[in-house]
Amino acid sequence: MDITKIPRHVAIIMDGNGRWAKSQGKPRIEGHYQGVASVRTAIQVALDTNIKYLTIYAFSKENWGRPKDEVDGLMELFCKTIALEIPNLYEQGVCVRFLGSRKELNPEVLESIALSERETQNNNRLFLNVALNYSGRAELTEAVKQIVADTEKGLVKLSEIDENTVSSHLYTHGIPDPDLLIRTSGEYRISNFLLWQSAYSEFYFTEKYWPDFTKEEFLKALEHYSTRKRRYGLTDEQK
Ligand code: IPE
Ligand code: IPE
Ligand code: MG
Repeated sequence: MDITKIPRHVAIIMDGNGRWAKSQGKPRIEGHYQGVASVRTAIQVALDTNIKYLTIYAFSKENWGRPKDEVDGLMELFCKTIALEIPNLYEQGVCVRFLGSRKELNPEVLESIALSERETQNNNRLFLNVALNYSGRAELTEAVKQIVADTEKGLVKLSEIDENTVSSHLYTHGIPDPDLLIRTSGEYRISNFLLWQSAYSEFYFTEKYWPDFTKEEFLKALEHYSTRKRRYGLTDEQK
């Protein structure tokens, strides 16, 4: 493998758990359980390659519309996984943060989130962001509301509002934009993930379902990223 350039921030749309399960003749929830193993692997790769920020899309706001048993199963899986993984994440120097609205989450999930964030808050080897009950449009809408409220209170002037103002009102405040955005399962869309933040991200798509996204697959994505030439609107000669 020829990985010459490591992205500072990798974001992943972990898709295909359901289809993976179906291909094995198993219920969808089995795919989600198997997906946790891939999350563990991805975290390990990030640690080994010195990626500083890893953001994973675990549950979208739209995912509430799925059958109740799947949603309930996922919430239970989140609680169990967080409880089980905190000691290891802590040991490895991982700082965990959740991105998304907290409003609709049940008390058990809220408690797990709070605990994991509290326990790992002083770590800084890897920043792991878990997008849970996340929607890029909702995030931007909330930001607009907060900025308007601040303007009405006289805390900020209209003429002072710039891109940094918007960024600082997002769930991701303080986190650099993703350099590389990976989506598994052969779908070529963003599904309401990091709409603002991915303005200049490099995209990588793979046909692999998330449970089949191994260390080798992650390294392959990193190798692709190494070959990308980022121009940010400029010419090759300028970069
Ligand atoms: C991604 O896998 C995980 C979540 C959205 C929670 P899916 O559950 O979307 O799997 P597919 O896309 O139906 O195969
Ligand atoms: C995106 O996957 C959300 C997560 C991976 C958590 P979905 O499976 O919900 O996206 P669509 O419905 O295929 O766009
Ligand atoms: Mg899906």
